Formats: sequence, structure tokens, C-alpha cells
Amino acid sequence: MPLRCLMLVTICVVFITTEAVSGEHVKKAVGDEVSFHPDIINSPVTSIIWKHKNGSGVVVKAIEWDDEGFNIPNQKFKSNTILDEKTGQITLTNLTVKHGGIYTIDINNKEQEHRFSLIVMDRVPKPVIKIKKIEGNSDIVYLICEYSETIIWRNSTGKILIASKHHPKGEFITAEFTGNPDNFYTCTLDNDVSTETSEPVYERDLFQGKTVIYLNIVYQREKSLSPIIFFMFC
Ligand SMILES: *[C@@H]1O[C@H](CO)[C@@H](O)[C@H](O)[C@H]1NC(C)=O
Ligand SMILES: *[C@@H]1O[C@H](CO)[C@@H](O)[C@H](O)[C@H]1NC(C)=O
Ligand SMILES: *[C@@H]1O[C@H](CO)[C@@H](O)[C@H](O)[C@H]1NC(C)=O
Repeated sequence: MPLRCLMLVTICVVFITTEAVSGEHVKKAVGDEVSFHPDIINSPVTSIIWKHKNGSGVVVKAIEWDDEGFNIPNQKFKSNTILDEKTGQITLTNLTVKHGGIYTIDINNKEQEHRFSLIVMDRVPKPVIKIKKIEGNSDIVYLICEYSETIIWRNSTGKILIASKHHPKGEFITAEFTGNPDNFYTCTLDNDVSTETSEPVYERDLFQGKTVIYLNIVYQREKSLSPIIFFMFC
């Protein structure tokens, strides 16, 4: 059973990957670039029109080429659209959410069957970890990342940590006092097209009172420690 499941998943993954490579369904971040091209282009080519249909079904010409040259009638495509009339390839740079939709190509006034779907998503923000101390328990604190995207928590070893749901949105982890002030935690956001990681939150900033006690103990025990070494510990 598990093997069958695994095979099914593998087939699905291979299928999805193959589709993405052939340029049928593409996801990009705002500001990115994308290119679509027809599978085959039979010469002689006398005209090319790339059309764009947005989420409301409104169809406009993105770019056209014929014996009179290139034309970009729609404002949305004016500054960022290039067409290679030899290969039929369209390239859109500096994408905005408005460029999302379905692209089709007419070659010699004949619409080709190929459909190119584009989703343009905003980049994730750089996350900021919120710290929540717990009254009556100075050994643990909650670290919270309040975002709707996929969240990945890591500690200083790079290991992925198991988090809990935070309401109304996001996730939290419980950081425990370990006695090593250099341990740290990060939170990473990922939305398929972009990823951002927070600044690290160090244990020394989470358990300040405890760290001082810890250092004092070290200092008292190691009577031979010079003030200079102690200074380095601080
Ligand atoms: C589609 O384009 C029309 C005309 O520019 C616009 O009014 C409409 O809001 C667009 N729809 C989406 C989902 O972008
Ligand atoms: C990209 O688009 C944004 C918004 O339309 C614009 O402000 C910016 O100048 C553009 N950047 C480039 C490199 O064209
Ligand atoms: C990091 O996380 C892993 C996995 O939970 C754990 O085994 C390890 O002790 C942690 N290390 C530190 C320094 O927190």
C-alpha cells in the first residue's frame, strides 16, 4: 500500500514538473520575468498576435507583429513586452499582478491550441518574530510569526522545528532556556515564488535575567578567570 501511494505521488510530481517545463502553467513573483513560446512555428510567418485574457475574461492584444512592424496597443504591456518574430517567443519583464491570466498566440491569423497560464503573486514580506514571555515560567518563551504564507522555523543548527498554530494566523514555537546565549531561531516565509527569512532571535535576548545568573555562576566557579575573559563572556 505505502509503495503504491509513493508511486502515485511520484507520477503526480513528474507530471506537474513536466507541465511546468513545457510552459503551460507558470507562477512568478511581482517584478520577475517570464517567456512563453509556441511548440512549433512553420514558416513563412507573416503575422503574430499574442493575446491576454485576465481573470474577468477580458481579452486584449499584448503584442503583435506583421509586415508593418511591432505594435503594443495596451498600456499594461507597453513598457515590458518583447516579441521574437522568428521563434514567436513573448517575454514579459517586471511583472505585475495584472499580467496574470491566460496567454494565446495567433500565427498568420490562426489561433494556436497551446494555452499559457500565468499567475503573478506578491513577494512575501521579510518576517519579524514576536516574543511572548510567559508569566510564572522564566524557562520558556513563545516565538510567534503571524503570517498567512507557509512558515518554516529553524534553530541555530539549521534543523526544522515543529510549530503550533497561532490564532488568528501564523505559527508559534516554544523556545526553552538551554544556557547557550548564542542559540538562535529564525522564521522563513515561502509562497512558491519567493522566500524571506527573519532576523535571528538569540537566546541571550530571550532569557536576559537567566543569562546573567548563568554567567555569574561561571565567573564564581572559575575563580582563576581574569576580568578580561569575563568581559568577553558578557
Ligand atoms: C480585467 O481587465 C479589465 C479591463 O482592463 C478590468 O476592468 C478588470 O478589473 C480586470 N480583471 C482582473 C481580474 O484583473
Ligand atoms: C517595474 O514596475 C514598477 C511598477 O509598475 C515601476 O515602478 C518600476 O520602475 C519598473 N521597473 C523597471 C526596471 O522597469
Ligand atoms: C535544534 O533543533 C533540533 C530539532 O528539534 C534539536 O534536536 C536540537 O537540539 C536543537 N538545537 C539547538 C541548539 O537548539
